[in-house]
Amino acid sequence: MAIIINENNKLFHLQTKNTSYIMQIYKKSYLSHVYWGKKIHSPEGDNLAFQYAGNGSVPRPDLEDKTYTLASLAQEYSAYGTSDYRYPAFQVQHKDGSTICDVRVEGYKIHQGKPEIKDMPSTYVETGDKVETLEIILKDELKSFKVSLYYAVYEDYDVITRWAVLHNEGDDEVKVLRALSTQVDFSDNDYEMLYLNGSWGRERHVVREKVNRNIHMIDSKLGGSGHVYNPFIAVMRPTTDEFKGDVYGFNLVYSGNFIAGTEVEQFGSMRVTMGINPFDFSWLLEAGEAFTTPEAVMVYSSEGLNGMSKCFHKIYRERLCRGQFRDAERPILINNWEATYFDFDHNKLVDIATEASKLGIELFVLDDGWFGNRNDDHRALGDWFVNRNKLPGGIQGVADAINELGMQFGLWVEPEMVNPDSELYREHPDWCIHLEGRSRTEGRHQLILDLSREDVCDYLINILTDVFSSGNIGYVKWDMNRFMTEIGSALLPPDRQREVPHRYILGLYRVMDTLTKKFPHILFEGCASGGGRMDPGILYYMPQFWTSDNTDAIERLYIQYGTSMVYPQSTMGAHVSECPNHQVERTTPLKTRADVAMSANFGYELDATKMTDIEKAEVKEQVEWYKKQRSLIQYGDFYRLVSPFEGEDAAWMIVSQDKKECLVYYYQKLSQANSASKDIKLAGLADDMVYMDYETGSKYYGDQLMNLGVRIPNLKDFGSKIIHFKAE
Ligand code: DGJ
Repeated sequence: MAIIINENNKLFHLQTKNTSYIMQIYKKSYLSHVYWGKKIHSPEGDNLAFQYAGNGSVPRPDLEDKTYTLASLAQEYSAYGTSDYRYPAFQVQHKDGSTICDVRVEGYKIHQGKPEIKDMPSTYVETGDKVETLEIILKDELKSFKVSLYYAVYEDYDVITRWAVLHNEGDDEVKVLRALSTQVDFSDNDYEMLYLNGSWGRERHVVREKVNRNIHMIDSKLGGSGHVYNPFIAVMRPTTDEFKGDVYGFNLVYSGNFIAGTEVEQFGSMRVTMGINPFDFSWLLEAGEAFTTPEAVMVYSSEGLNGMSKCFHKIYRERLCRGQFRDAERPILINNWEATYFDFDHNKLVDIATEASKLGIELFVLDDGWFGNRNDDHRALGDWFVNRNKLPGGIQGVADAINELGMQFGLWVEPEMVNPDSELYREHPDWCIHLEGRSRTEGRHQLILDLSREDVCDYLINILTDVFSSGNIGYVKWDMNRFMTEIGSALLPPDRQREVPHRYILGLYRVMDTLTKKFPHILFEGCASGGGRMDPGILYYMPQFWTSDNTDAIERLYIQYGTSMVYPQSTMGAHVSECPNHQVERTTPLKTRADVAMSANFGYELDATKMTDIEKAEVKEQVEWYKKQRSLIQYGDFYRLVSPFEGEDAAWMIVSQDKKECLVYYYQKLSQANSASKDIKLAGLADDMVYMDYETGSKYYGDQLMNLGVRIPNLKDFGSKIIHFKAE
């Protein structure tokens, strides 16, 4: 049983295979937080939550019982205005202007499985899954305002997900000013916070900082989750490392503006919160209406960061990604972007594909530039009709030619955008996000279509249905290359303008949901100037993402290492591109470029017609090797071994589910003359299994590889080595 309730001491105990999450009704009314961590027995006693016991000058909310204050009480979903001075989980403004709520537990329900989260992506349940959901209802009596808190307990996945629904049950409208998805109050602040930070071409670098006695938030105000921060944080003890120690991971299933972080209050307890960014957000609820927050996925592990990542990877692979490609081996692709940019025609594309097909590559992707008058990035986004000068036979002509080579055909689109220099913009200038009278800031010469509008979303569904039906298309790369400015929608009234970014995301999800269901045979890949919107929200619709535009092998070590904190390797697109690299102008060996890319969803991003015969032979071998290991690489368990953020090398490994096989990836950044070879300790193997190194024939017990380690010879600058072990 995942949910155990003790009516005597009003205790709610959520249990997964290895973890416990415990709440209690405090002083007969407040929903308090008691414990989250290793699985334990249900505690006895009343009022167990952490609470400052001193006599500080803090207001006490109860005139009859002055023994407590909300200022430090560990709570589950705090309100503002009745003695808790920390940032609350939610805040609403009532018709009379007041912004105070006082919510107490009204009741609870247990749902078998998991109720649907309306209009939003979320983890799901399949028949046979051990999942129960606890709904706890909080109520503000004065204003007839209710909050339903949901806790879905994925027993076998060691995951709890949380979301909230705010119900306006009064007769007047209410403005939601803040509605976070989760809040967890920890009784002390001896933690570090890890988050993923970056920019275009430098996505998801790992940052780990001490939690100080202050407020420490990461966020996005971009209108998308963004390159700068990912909607993910982990808090852990200072001694926690990749393999051991307590860690608590939080990830938001949302692609828009978010906030996440820690706040330490005056007595030293630490609050973690995550949800939609309340900055410049509000949502009007008419009487009887409700607002649903996105889902937050929460993982506790006592086995360090790798333990946490393993839980995120498994649930995302199996219960977030959907469709026929969820469990399918993903094709090796070649993409023409860095090969041609906008300068191509039918014959050039077919030439590249012809060479690629000889090397065993399975899918050809036609990137930007196939439509309208799109010969550079200044124009034509929105004009989704084929450029017949470049492609006289249309999409069907190219797709057929590629298919004849025995390859699948894939197509790039950037549907959410419009260039002012386009037929679409000239016809519908008010279809973009804008503020009347204010000039429109352009990013990459483009504006964002207003997906908060139903008519714009319907238009996109129709036009994309035509595009996706215009040939035998097996794959679509869905790009998005700028974030929001001058946010406003022509159709919404003034008091709803701050709803635009969230309405946009809901519109986007509707468009993606409709199209991915309409075209189930298409493998969709998300992209946002590389990895600018790589989040669980998108992964619900599209089971893979273009990790970064930066394809340099060394830069990719940081990006893929950081990305793997949360997202499984089956979701990461990783390509070999030509050298000098187009982003950093570095030259690295072809082998190293492939060894990095071959630990995720593999492909090439270069002009295959320009490769030498030696290079072609090498690529052919890489493709053959990857195909043989593909299922292990894409669906095995991933372990980070050596961090590129800490030294001149990096290593990770992938272990098959039955532990009988593994691939160890080792990379050298800059080498040092005359330095000692290294022993790298492996992880995730079976102690007693005997593993053979494929290359040398040497045999080792699993416990030897994990404790003594495997010896790595000295490598030159930008060198790499993959070691393949298989148990007998
Ligand atoms: C940004 C993407 O990340 C690239 O891979 C490429 O598709 C370009 N857009 C095309 O404009």
